[in-house]
Amino acid sequence: MRTARRPSCFFVPLFLLTLLVSCASKDDPGFTFAVVSDSHTGGTLETGKLVYKRLLEQINERRPDLLVHCGDWIVGPSYDRAGDATADTFLTYTAILDSAIAFYPVLGNHEGDYEDYTYSMDLYPDHFGSGGWYSFDHKRAHFFVIENNSDASDSTLRGYRTCRPNGGINTPGSPQRAWLDADLAGRPPDTRWTFGFGHRSYYGAEGYSGRKNVYEGRTGQDAICRVMEDAGVAVFFNGDQHCYTRSRAIRGGGPAQAGEPSTVYLTCGGAGGRINRGSKRKPPLAFPALHELPADTYETGFKDHYFFLLCRVTEDRFHADVIDTSGALLDSFTIKHPLAGR
Ligand SMILES: [Fe+2]
Repeated sequence: MRTARRPSCFFVPLFLLTLLVSCASKDDPGFTFAVVSDSHTGGTLETGKLVYKRLLEQINERRPDLLVHCGDWIVGPSYDRAGDATADTFLTYTAILDSAIAFYPVLGNHEGDYEDYTYSMDLYPDHFGSGGWYSFDHKRAHFFVIENNSDASDSTLRGYRTCRPNGGINTPGSPQRAWLDADLAGRPPDTRWTFGFGHRSYYGAEGYSGRKNVYEGRTGQDAICRVMEDAGVAVFFNGDQHCYTRSRAIRGGGPAQAGEPSTVYLTCGGAGGRINRGSKRKPPLAFPALHELPADTYETGFKDHYFFLLCRVTEDRFHADVIDTSGALLDSFTIKHPLAGR
């Protein structure tokens, strides 16, 4: 995996970023998709709505084929300080998205806090009509969306306690796991890439109390992470933690050996919900919280910027740029397809 870490005060101008992308796409343009998470529209009037709006404007300028929102769209269906119903606000702002860009939602724990997801699922009946999970194919890439808030031992923590068991993604034989097993086995024969999306994190580095990683999903032959790694899922995108964390290529709870099937885990919670959580504590919570991660699994991250991801997929390469509200580049990396030539 080729990477470019984020220097502390280094930003690539927008015109240069565009030039780099266009050069890389000269022979095989592939396609692009964007990812956001944790917009929490209505949660904070000063940030949540305006950040989400600005990110959608940035995404519109780049015209990806689709946008995936990894959950915590809203705080709840209730009213915020401005007197706006936060679900209405979310839908109003999401309507800013160019109609040519397909929108795909993931269920976050805030969506699960109300009527066991029913309220939020009803906002997107085309996606959640048969459950909190679904998949689709786009140009030889397979995308699957899971609900992973409720099937974790810490789901009774404050903030998760009303996410009642939905599909049981980390439980072999459960309805959702059975669906995912069949979904991955039934991918079209010409599928080149597979990408997974959920809300809760497996390798996030925020370390915020009550927003822990789903530890039991990482290891064991039947763990959800192992299922994804064995299936060749190149990247799993999630939110929940309000930070950016990029793991190394992972297999079985640790860094993968060369040539092993592996997955990179990206925590993408930067679309408007409060960042820098824990910074006012004495002492402030440190970032990255490496004590919550297995050794040698953390690659890079930050929790002091709002951002979205722009991902370019070609036959042989997956490339992601992490971009802030001003268009500045915060991180980028490339994954070479296992079957790609030299
Ligand atoms: Fe959140």
